[in-house]
Amino acid sequence: MTVSLECREVCVDGEPRYIGARAFEILELLVKAAGRLVSKDEIMQAVWPNTIVVENNIQVHISTLRKLFGGKHGWIRTESGRGYRLAPPADPARADRQPAGFEPLGGARAGTAPRKCPLIGREQEAADLHALLERETLVTLVGPGGVGKTHLALEVAAAWTAVHNIELVRIDLAGWQGDTTLESAVLDALGLPASAAAGPADVVRAIGEQRVMLLLDNAEQHVDDLADLCEAIAEANAGAILIVTSREPLRVAGERVYRVGPLPVPPAGANDGDIVECGAVRMFLARARAMGTDIQADPKTLDAIATICRRLSGLPLALELGAVRIASLGIQGLAADLDKSVLSLSGGLRTAHPRQQTLRATIEWSYRLLDDTERTVLCRLAVFPEAFRLDAACALAACDELGAEAVLDCLVGLALKSLLVVHSVGLSKRYSMLEVVRAYALEKLAESGEAGRLHARCASFANGERADTLQPVPAASAQPVLAAGPWA
Ligand SMILES: Nc1ncnc2c1ncn2[C@@H]1O[C@H](COP(=O)(O)OP(=O)(O)OP(=O)(O)O)[C@@H](O)[C@H]1O
Ligand SMILES: [Mg+2]
Repeated sequence: MTVSLECREVCVDGEPRYIGARAFEILELLVKAAGRLVSKDEIMQAVWPNTIVVENNIQVHISTLRKLFGGKHGWIRTESGRGYRLAPPADPARADRQPAGFEPLGGARAGTAPRKCPLIGREQEAADLHALLERETLVTLVGPGGVGKTHLALEVAAAWTAVHNIELVRIDLAGWQGDTTLESAVLDALGLPASAAAGPADVVRAIGEQRVMLLLDNAEQHVDDLADLCEAIAEANAGAILIVTSREPLRVAGERVYRVGPLPVPPAGANDGDIVECGAVRMFLARARAMGTDIQADPKTLDAIATICRRLSGLPLALELGAVRIASLGIQGLAADLDKSVLSLSGGLRTAHPRQQTLRATIEWSYRLLDDTERTVLCRLAVFPEAFRLDAACALAACDELGAEAVLDCLVGLALKSLLVVHSVGLSKRYSMLEVVRAYALEKLAESGEAGRLHARCASFANGERADTLQPVPAASAQPVLAAGPWA
């Protein structure tokens, strides 16, 4: 277990655990007391300086902390009628719950997380978001796992709130366990009185006219819970501004969805100047250099890096993991590693959430949120080597048990959940998958035993057997990035 006072984060087995702001303040007092008894009065004065609260409030938060710190006989000792202290448990079996590292409280504002490294290649997105925040109350950054939604949102939110002189509170929902209502967690993070059963109206009332920006981060697992709350806050049109990051939109009234795509990659055959200008290359080089890797900017090396960035679809998390790898494998070694499987890329930041430790875990996190039919359709569609049309998708993925209508619904769902990339071609759309998503889906397809049949079916399209549904796109309307297979 790790407790970071600076990041205001408790991690168990590397996974951040949500604890409310009040509980954290109590924990901080106990940590700083370094084993000394902390009286209830001390807690009252530090945590609720201007409010009269019943003692029961302290107990509620202590019991939340206890659950994390080894239970009744764990690290948090009660001295009846006097107070609490943090001390090693008498039973050594509970010592594994030992808080391994306490980082001192630095300048970080409560509820916001420190940014790990500079934001690269998102100048346009940051400008768009600044403009959106001037007129919208609820902005949701939507995009695939690891694309950089959190990083971008934090950067923009911090700058925007500094300029407008309003408070920023970030709530990381990836680690939220759902012990209380979401509304209660939000009130807690805002430092407002919260009952465990608080609802949207309580949050709207409590925020009132307060000018505050709430960053509800990594929300995809809780979109249903969040929808009511965000709609209520947006409708009340009070002082609060909401930024949500999620792999899928909330789909509520008043929501403005902003899609975040991967960083631009250089096209094959780009010259050196264009390669080094590309967002993905800039980020890859910056991360590799931060790891102490000395990379020459000669044409051969730049070309190899451009290829790696394309293989990694310009996905920042993938670039970050790749950049860590070249320190030990070199550029050639990394390229060979990617040929084996992009999914096994691992070894990112020690502080990253487990879903971001490998690319497989990142896609798995999204895959787990799909229903069975969506999973089946995703895996079947992975046999298309490049972008495909809606009718081709229906023709390929439909079967006796799964009608074309159902496939269409799934396709819409998969696009919403950022597992399909949507391209506009004239008035119609094409769909494709990021390389990592496709690699994952192909693995799952192989496990399902359907791979042979699906590949054969796709090949039969290529041979023109389904020309009725698979008309080639007129050349003039095709985007250069999209392939011109019979499914395109
Ligand atoms: N533009 C960027 N410049 C530098 N680093 C970036 C950029 N975008 C993302 N990163 C880094 O890539 C990693 C993944 O980014 P981030 O956590 O923001 O992705 P995400 O879209 O929020 O993913 P998830 O869906 O898993 O929450 C982080 O370590 C982040 O710091
Ligand atoms: Mg995120």
